[in-house]
Amino acid sequence: MTTKPAAAPPTTNKHLIRWVEKMAELTQPANIHWVDGSQAEYDMLCDKLVEAGTFFPLDEKKWPGCFYARSVPTDVARVEERTFICSLSKDNAGPTNNWEDPFVMRKRMKQLFTGSMRGRTMYVLPFSMGPVGSPISQIGVELTDSAYVVVNMRIMSRIGAPVLAEIDKEIHRVTPCMHTVGAPLDPGQKDVSWPCNDLKYIVHYPETREIWSYGSGYGGNALLGKKCFALRIASNIARDQGWMAEHMLIVGIETPPDATGRTEKTYLAAAFPSACGKTNLAMLIPPAGFDGWKVWTVGDDIAWIKPDASGQLRAINPEAGFFGVAPGTSLKTNPNAMATLNRNSIFTNVALTVGADGKADGGIWWEGMTDAVPDRLIDWRGNPWTPSSPTPAAHPNGRFTTPASQCPSIDPDWENPQGVPISAFLFGGRRPTTIPLVYQAFNWSAGVYTGATMGSETTAAAGAPVGKVRRDPMAMLPFCGYHMGDYFRHWINMKRSFSETPRIFSVNWFRKDADGNFLWPGYGENMRVLKWVVDRVHGRVPGKETAIGWTPYFEDIRWEGLDKSESELRASFDQLLLVDPEAWKREVIDHEQLFIALHDHLPAEMIFQRELLICRL
Ligand code: GTP
Ligand code: SPV
Ligand code: MN
Repeated sequence: MTTKPAAAPPTTNKHLIRWVEKMAELTQPANIHWVDGSQAEYDMLCDKLVEAGTFFPLDEKKWPGCFYARSVPTDVARVEERTFICSLSKDNAGPTNNWEDPFVMRKRMKQLFTGSMRGRTMYVLPFSMGPVGSPISQIGVELTDSAYVVVNMRIMSRIGAPVLAEIDKEIHRVTPCMHTVGAPLDPGQKDVSWPCNDLKYIVHYPETREIWSYGSGYGGNALLGKKCFALRIASNIARDQGWMAEHMLIVGIETPPDATGRTEKTYLAAAFPSACGKTNLAMLIPPAGFDGWKVWTVGDDIAWIKPDASGQLRAINPEAGFFGVAPGTSLKTNPNAMATLNRNSIFTNVALTVGADGKADGGIWWEGMTDAVPDRLIDWRGNPWTPSSPTPAAHPNGRFTTPASQCPSIDPDWENPQGVPISAFLFGGRRPTTIPLVYQAFNWSAGVYTGATMGSETTAAAGAPVGKVRRDPMAMLPFCGYHMGDYFRHWINMKRSFSETPRIFSVNWFRKDADGNFLWPGYGENMRVLKWVVDRVHGRVPGKETAIGWTPYFEDIRWEGLDKSESELRASFDQLLLVDPEAWKREVIDHEQLFIALHDHLPAEMIFQRELLICRL
């Protein structure tokens, strides 16, 4: 079967045209579609997805412009064990990444991609990570045989004609991204609603800056601008160019106006592992006791951070949408997310509500969305579900794809091409024990040590067993596109380009009591911690020196609005902030395990910091 010749490509860039031709020869699609990014095209693709059974339109009154999709049970999350960094030398990928010789891998990819798009349309999807034309932005072109990927990418990034116009200027290095679901169709063969392949490869070539993704249609495996480009490839670009590509949310905290009407706005960037609370913190609504305070959302997952000419760190959110964890999202926990995702959104692997006839009625539900659990649902696998069913109605990694522009708390500067100024970094994981609610590292290298050694319980986002504490340095374990030890070195080196050093904090919303209950209410109440962080950044409150860093004094946390007596608050505060030397000695031994794995690339600063910590303990 030969590819139907496309209308003249809407670009003058000969390299791009030649590459598309070459890749079409390899993958043999039935058609080539150059994506223009228009609303009409989006609507057409959604119609096509409905026809194919991939999309189910939701009720126009309840969920205007929204669609529901259900993947197959074998394609529900990132696949870390199938993710490869194919640098020329294995040593550059380091022990925390899977590696394969790029020559061997190229051969394998070529074989797998041969004819892989037969019977399908190949979409040529130009995308910009970051506002088109920003000096911090980067451009890629994804060739994909999935219309689901195209419509998700239209929400998650800037795509189509404006990006192509940028490419035509021939001043950018464009990152080529190949994607196939790996399910070619024979003539006349009927398609399935979620095509994919049991064999999966998520492959990165850091030196040549290429991505080849095979076999999956889900999330970070397939929306290649996100984790593959904006983190794994971009971390390589950032190291070479002296900036940082991080798995971080960005928020602005604004104080109420003072007597002269002026407010103070402080931007923080925070790294938490997958499904550990970035989207929630990014959209936080201040609780009772914080009248007049505002929290502004810049980004919820990825931050690109660069020192400007004066040495001030500035950050952009390279994305244009949120691909957020649905379960647990509610009007109580995250009203801003609920107000964002209520229109023009895509829901994947959540549950469908049903009418009296037992048929889907155009509504959706997930665990935690409402206190009342519906009597009957259709679960994410498409089976009838009741509250007594043994499995959850929504997959724990079920997600919404929703435009950032719809977020009520979106920062007026979220698309500022210069980015926003960053004053502090936060690191946090899911730690039921040991790690206090918050502490500030003594200085930059102690802070880098804190981020480098952070641990977290694994979650459903990684497609592996959940609930086990693993080291996840800077929340980048699955996303750093080179040797983790060199990445720590890059963090240490970055300090040289700052005029003012950002402060570094560790937070933990997930500490538990002896009965296994969370000690901290979390969500909006995290504002109490953020206020202390902001006060520390501006030197307004003292810190209590402990072996690991500075913790807050009880008096310096604003407690107004919490429905508890002072003695209750003090008792839980002491538990939340406890630094137990015995637990910390075990913690340091765990740090050592990571350091042994990285030893020949580990900056000396990390060893010194560990020694200092041991001495203080
Ligand atoms: P990725 O998109 O995978 O990178 O995840 P994320 O870091 O954005 O996590 P998200 O904000 O979506 O939260 C994931 C889960 O953590 C949800 O089930 C939340 O309900 C829960 N969560 C978020 N913040 C808190 C908190 O402050 N306390 C507690 N106990 N749970 C939280
Ligand atoms: C994560 O796993 O950290 C995510 C979801 O943000 S995915 O885009 O699938 O990587
Ligand atoms: Mn993430």
